[in-house]
Amino acid sequence: MLKNQPQPDWPEPIVRVQSLSENCIDSIPERYIKPSTDRPSIRSSNFDDANIPIIDLGGLFGADQRVSDSILRQISEACKEWGFFQVTNHGVSPDLMDKARETWRQFFHMPMEVKQQYANSPKTYEGYGSRLGIEKGAILDWSDYYFLHYLPLPLKDYNKWPASPPSCRKVFDEYGRELVKLCGRLMKALSINLGLDEKILQNGFGGEDIGACLRVNFYPKCPRPELTLGLSSHSDPGGMTMLLPDDQVPGLQVRKCDNWITVKPARHAFIVNIGDQIQVLSNAIYKSVEHRVIVNSDKERVSLAFFYNPKSDIPIEPIKELVTPEKPSLYPAMTFDEYRLFIRMRGPRGKSQVESLKSPR
Ligand code: OGA
Ligand code: NI
Repeated sequence: MLKNQPQPDWPEPIVRVQSLSENCIDSIPERYIKPSTDRPSIRSSNFDDANIPIIDLGGLFGADQRVSDSILRQISEACKEWGFFQVTNHGVSPDLMDKARETWRQFFHMPMEVKQQYANSPKTYEGYGSRLGIEKGAILDWSDYYFLHYLPLPLKDYNKWPASPPSCRKVFDEYGRELVKLCGRLMKALSINLGLDEKILQNGFGGEDIGACLRVNFYPKCPRPELTLGLSSHSDPGGMTMLLPDDQVPGLQVRKCDNWITVKPARHAFIVNIGDQIQVLSNAIYKSVEHRVIVNSDKERVSLAFFYNPKSDIPIEPIKELVTPEKPSLYPAMTFDEYRLFIRMRGPRGKSQVESLKSPR
């Protein structure tokens, strides 16, 4: 934390979107109505059938070099073309994935008094929350969430994880362990695809001393889904995100040029995306991509976003092997702590934040 800075708090009383949803019959409060340019389009389009790539990871780094190389190529293509892809055969048990999602769904269905014990503040964002950013009068998103730290160990605090449902801590402990392993393999794949030794990207994150946190998103039903968003357009500030989407209800949209592609989740797949810190480390060979979430009038949606981040107090800048006279460094060094502070004051804003980092030239 920066010293001598006033500690922010929420600028207005917090309203739980879930309570609003239970009380709104056919309208939504003005605070949630987006300007017309940001609203989801309800017209069907030529892109309705498009989807992000689905990559089968079975055989990645296995005995058959040709299979492994083919998977690496698919990952490389997906990182460059989309910044987003789904992975299947990733080694995490489908049962654990379902358990994790359903345990968190149960949390959001606990009585409000129980959830309020974990009400968060913008000092750390840990706990039960309903907004990002502290700008007074901001237009808000149609969602509640729960945010917690898994790594580094000194930040992992069970008191800030829900005590109920009773299985929550145990299930998420195991889920976190599996996801850290999977992210480690993907980091190796990205490093090789960047033409580097397999450990270099991970080393750029601080080696084993990485950070990891979870944001569980709860998108309640919304009587006017055409006027609002569950989560406004943003790129993820961290390193790499592993999203476990709802198994029944779609909602995530990824920006492709000027279109929004609605992701069709494959069964028991994770949705992987590149965050701003990999954009910086790769000197923009890989770019973080804007995405947002739409809501609907008849089904709630739950998703688990697991963020795999660099160690938070080391300088993050383009990897030196990727900086050449032809491709000079695009970004000055900044720690992830500094970057996150900057994001957290302002809330989701497309890609303006990582773009604003660019060195003046
Ligand atoms: C996020 C996010 C997408 C979703 O939490 O950063 O982009 O589908 N979530 O909930
Ligand atoms: Ni995101």
